[in-house]
Amino acid sequence: MDKYEQVIELAKRRGFLWNSFELYGGTAGFYDYGPLGSTLKRRIEQIWRETYVVQEGFMEIEAPTIGIEEVFVASGHVGGFSDPLCECKDCREAFRADHLVEDMVACADALNVEELDKIIAENNVRCPECEGELGESYEFNLMFRTNIGPGTGRQGYMRPETAQGMFVDFLRLARFYREKLPFGATQIGKSYRNEISPRQGVIRLREFTQAEAEIFIDPNNKKHANFGRFADTVVNLYSEEAQEKGIVEKISLGEAVEKGTIAHEFLAYQIGLTNHFLKRIGIAADKLRFRQHLKDEMAHYAIDCWDAEIETDRFGWVEVVGIADRTDYDLKAHANVSKTELSIYREYSEPKMVTQFVVKPNMGKLGPLFKGKAKAVADALKVLTQEELEQESITVTVDGEEVTVPGDVVDFAEETVKISGENIIPHVIEPSYGIDRIFYSTMEHAFAEEMVGGKEEDEDEEARNILRFKKEVAPVQVAILPLLTREELITPAKKIESQLKQKGLLVSYDDSGTIGRRYRRNDEIGTPYSITIDYDTLEDNTVTIRDRDSMKQIRAPIDGIEDLVYEMIYMSREFESAGKAL
Ligand code: GLY
Repeated sequence: MDKYEQVIELAKRRGFLWNSFELYGGTAGFYDYGPLGSTLKRRIEQIWRETYVVQEGFMEIEAPTIGIEEVFVASGHVGGFSDPLCECKDCREAFRADHLVEDMVACADALNVEELDKIIAENNVRCPECEGELGESYEFNLMFRTNIGPGTGRQGYMRPETAQGMFVDFLRLARFYREKLPFGATQIGKSYRNEISPRQGVIRLREFTQAEAEIFIDPNNKKHANFGRFADTVVNLYSEEAQEKGIVEKISLGEAVEKGTIAHEFLAYQIGLTNHFLKRIGIAADKLRFRQHLKDEMAHYAIDCWDAEIETDRFGWVEVVGIADRTDYDLKAHANVSKTELSIYREYSEPKMVTQFVVKPNMGKLGPLFKGKAKAVADALKVLTQEELEQESITVTVDGEEVTVPGDVVDFAEETVKISGENIIPHVIEPSYGIDRIFYSTMEHAFAEEMVGGKEEDEDEEARNILRFKKEVAPVQVAILPLLTREELITPAKKIESQLKQKGLLVSYDDSGTIGRRYRRNDEIGTPYSITIDYDTLEDNTVTIRDRDSMKQIRAPIDGIEDLVYEMIYMSREFESAGKAL
């Protein structure tokens, strides 16, 4: 068994992850989160919320997961969100054409279907399932389609990213934030991609959870007010240049911006924040790197993009977060399709005097000449150049009709005017997290198999599985273990359980099997602390607390135990300081 198999086996057995629709044989690309999995996922999402919503101040919104066609026409997903599909003529199995040839050519994912078919033919590639002949490849759009309302009246799509909901709400958000840049919004929710042939388990899902922030910034100022927080943070950077050399560079974010490796402070700050978040939830620092997109792999909307990649045992380096400078691509695209200006008015700190060409149609003369059309004629005149206005008679088009206007009905001149601000289209910085991949990586990095015991003469060594989750992430933070299912032990155990729950801790009450088995079970689900209630408890009102990682035990009083455990979990209180060592 490789580590992926070990982790997935544990995940299934202990209620973290289950194959969806298992009862009916299952379908690739879908996973259910079981009771512990759901809780662990919520913990990760909660820390993400704390990071982006509470600390950064990017408020969360909730837009529909189904979108109307216009949204995805504007975003480019209707036109270009596809993968090359190649089907077997015999067994009808579908494959990603680029995956079929990835061992034969570099950057297969950058090739078009004609180029892929040529390589398939030249190398006589056959169906990996049945050796049958492969059909011609074609572009397959990855969005799930649906109909909105009865019949086929209105085409809808399951959203392929949460991002669009925030672009569509841009004007509302701008007003909410009183049009002061930078501002941002976040969403955590499901996105859908009808992957052609997902074979990487929980790493490539057809329905998955994204946590995305869209941060609207001043296009002329990409500095970050709080960059000092991460300027000295050293990260593993795999820039375009470093990829050519095949060497990951350890470099501070400040230096990376100074050298121009990262385009600007705002992007570098987001890399710093992502690094902070991933380490906080338990991703191993030496298995985390930031890889810059190469020019030919950059999404159509981005000018610079860095992926946080996590090293996994089976899949190697896996992209878990994309951090992109999307420029004004999305706002312009939606402005274009919706025919609505998506900009904000930015007041200058001091008004500016600017010289500009001003056209003043004479309404007193235009009115009698053009009556109801006078205003439209005046508007058409206002956009003309000096040269066009200097004619004896001027021709403009109004409502598709050519209208001739005498030159003396319009005055024009260069004037110096006071301007207090301007309309600008913000640029967007987007950190986009794939929560399911992060969830799996958190489990894999926490997982260990080790031999314990055997120190005493009469003691056998035995193997234990352990999930060394960070304490604040663990789906069960404290296990309550009454030594025996006797009333006199159950009563204090239940009391402790209630004290801990009131403190907001995640508690499980576990009274089946020997105490040793219960410890192993809790090690395997990553419970940081186990509290045993025994007969000494009845004598002196104390309990045994066991630490998952060191397996050390202390004796501590029941009074105030909820504060003690809380401090150990959330406030770095040392285990040894919490009671008398046993
Ligand atoms: N919003 C970026 C992505 O979903 O890939």
